[in-house]
Amino acid sequence: MAGTPGTLPQDLAREAAVTAALAALDLDAKARLLSGQDMWSLPALPEIGLRSLVMSDGPIGVRGVRWSADDPSVALPSPTALAATWDPALARRAGVLLAQEARRKGVHVLLAPTVNLHRSPLGGRHFEAYSEDPRLTGLIGAGYVAGVQSGGVGTTVKHFVANDAETDRFTVDNRVGARALRELYLAPFELIVENARPWGIMTAYNAVNGTTMTEHRHLVNEVLRGEWGFDGCNVSDWMAARSTRGAVEGGLDIAMPGPDTVYGAPLARAVRAGEVEESAVDDAVRNVLRLAARVGLLDGAEPAVPEPPAAVDGAALAREIARRSFVLARNERAALPLRPGTVALLGAAARDARVLGGGSATVFPARVVSPLDGLTAALPEGALRYAVGADPATELAVADQGFTLRASCRNAAGEVIGTASAPNGQIQWMGADLPEGVTHDTLHTVELTGTFTPRDSGPHRFGVKGTGAFTLAVDGTVRFDGVQRPADDFDPFEAFFGAPVERAEVELTAGAPVEVSLTHVVELPEGIPMKVVAFALAHQEPERDPDELIAEAVEAARAADTAVVVVATTDRVESEGFDRADLALPGRQDDLVRAVAAANPNTVVVVNSGSPVELPWRDEVAAVLLSWFPGQEGGAALADVLTGAHEPGGRLPTTWGPLSAAPVTRVTPENGELAYTEGVFIGYRAWERQGRTPSYPFGHGLGYTDWTYESVDVDGTTARVRVRNTGDRQGREVVQVYLAPAAPDGDRPHRWLAGFAAVEAAPGDHAEAVVTLPRRAFEIWDTTESRWSFVKGSYEIQVGRSITDRRITATINV
Ligand code: BGC
Repeated sequence: MAGTPGTLPQDLAREAAVTAALAALDLDAKARLLSGQDMWSLPALPEIGLRSLVMSDGPIGVRGVRWSADDPSVALPSPTALAATWDPALARRAGVLLAQEARRKGVHVLLAPTVNLHRSPLGGRHFEAYSEDPRLTGLIGAGYVAGVQSGGVGTTVKHFVANDAETDRFTVDNRVGARALRELYLAPFELIVENARPWGIMTAYNAVNGTTMTEHRHLVNEVLRGEWGFDGCNVSDWMAARSTRGAVEGGLDIAMPGPDTVYGAPLARAVRAGEVEESAVDDAVRNVLRLAARVGLLDGAEPAVPEPPAAVDGAALAREIARRSFVLARNERAALPLRPGTVALLGAAARDARVLGGGSATVFPARVVSPLDGLTAALPEGALRYAVGADPATELAVADQGFTLRASCRNAAGEVIGTASAPNGQIQWMGADLPEGVTHDTLHTVELTGTFTPRDSGPHRFGVKGTGAFTLAVDGTVRFDGVQRPADDFDPFEAFFGAPVERAEVELTAGAPVEVSLTHVVELPEGIPMKVVAFALAHQEPERDPDELIAEAVEAARAADTAVVVVATTDRVESEGFDRADLALPGRQDDLVRAVAAANPNTVVVVNSGSPVELPWRDEVAAVLLSWFPGQEGGAALADVLTGAHEPGGRLPTTWGPLSAAPVTRVTPENGELAYTEGVFIGYRAWERQGRTPSYPFGHGLGYTDWTYESVDVDGTTARVRVRNTGDRQGREVVQVYLAPAAPDGDRPHRWLAGFAAVEAAPGDHAEAVVTLPRRAFEIWDTTESRWSFVKGSYEIQVGRSITDRRITATINV
């Protein structure tokens, strides 16, 4: 079923070009167009003047068709950070930059944004989604989509729908009631379709209520296209399409990746066998051609954006978003901004910053500013002292610091047929993306060789990530020569997301380079419909005695005016492909914070994680700053905020609290099903219903000035809120408007976010925030009638700084 394309003259002209192109294609060409030709692109059809359409991940940058550090990309802060800005206009600017990056890399469609909800804090891809609140998610997502598309690049809003956890993601059947589906999980998609008209959507791996999403006729054809009027293209998540007929009938337009998918030749055969109507194929082809025309790939059709917008400075924008996203959760005795004096900077992540989350969202930035780099540049010489304190990396990780590696490709005769740089010891060559001169037919072995210069003396661990035969040599000695097999839990992306296996421990000396090599006999993985060469050399620094490390940090903290501890998660904690086991900080980081706080009352903790972690010491430290995965300029932004050059502008897009108190946690299916038994009560809706107090509530974030809420006037659907900056510096306030039924009923949450607006004011000045209350905020999904129902009655409009810090109210009757 086709949606309704726009009615502007240029839309009509483009549609006419699409119709003409469609009419000129035979069945085989049409079927071919609906199937990826490789990992990231669709085939060109020169007979109709159609060029190949290229897609690429992902939310915080544009990786391009090469999965390697050779082809760097601007890395923006994590989606949780973008949501913490509560600023759809800033999300739009992020989108404009990403369109620019996409154009630079020859990418036409960005595989983003992720607008699944933070249902359980254990969700492994939590960092990649925006919020627990559907409205905040939808507004940030709409800004992002509008921005990307204003640059002439398409988006695929993903993963439609209810892909809120990773465990058994290919097979899980999420059982979601109609109200929760409409009021929570579908709501961001609906808001984005209505406000930003996305050119694409990505259907998820999982099933919803018994039907896998790539075949979900009801949700795709009836709801998304029918009710909402979506006229874009529906792309499967990678390898999510499983049945030719089911996918066509379920409204799937493109099966990715290729070349072997349920579309292409199997689709043409199904039509000829009378199993699939050719008109259904035509509907899908029309959607693909419309997308191609919009992004300028179809001759004779005017692209949606003929001229790209003015260039954006990516590094500057990454830095601005980062500082605007940092949430100052606690600031006792105005510990921040830092007062002049000495600083002890502590924590492994202060030196080796974790700037982005793992999985398909990974990009390779040209540079990373760590907190150590940022503060070194910002503080006077001699003011900063650094100590590791505690290392969150308790496992091997992809080789990085100190390695200089190259890859040589050999044929079966052992001759070198091509080379490539592989600076971080990781090979991920997909489809035709192979070094020059190399083909899958000729490639036999890949050899990573180079040197490693240790930063510290001691026993260094080496290992291998990937499956197949490997030979690992360090310092002239073969340390492993054998075959590695995937874990029982089969995920076809094991080579990307699986854990590295330790293979050797070698005593090395700081500063003394040694030779390292890892040879792999290429074995194409099963279960992936395309040729992929993926493996990595893994490494772990010598583990020093943790007590000694903490003692060193304590000594540094004692000698300094302020101690800044950076604590972090690792990519074995937060990544795509698996969920989290707990919310604790890995390693001895909690002990480090406690020991430092005991030694220096002026201890500031910077939390470098994409999603909630437990902070059991939070009341023992002076300040807590949540910095998310802050993107490539994170350390510079951190210095901006710690020194007070800028205010930390973020507000929590999600409730933070310990796992033991979190109301909704389950991510593991039982008998293949995951029941969303909590209904519409997730996030703050659930915390409030259970009467539990989180560590930091939804919407919370202090900034550097104070605000008084003076008045709220509601006229029809408009709330005008007057606030005054009562602090002593210029600031920005996110005015949050919650709607609470005056007579609570058990069916609805105590209150929910109806809208928000940000204002700025100088000290002593006042400002007015204008917030529109959408009709949908007053509606619930009527499960008997299957329609939205406006709930009349008396409501309190509650306005404040977070869901719990409500300052003023007004009552309305509707
Ligand atoms: C992820 C998608 C991503 C795709 C392509 C999948 O495994 O779920 O979000 O866009 O891979 O990398």
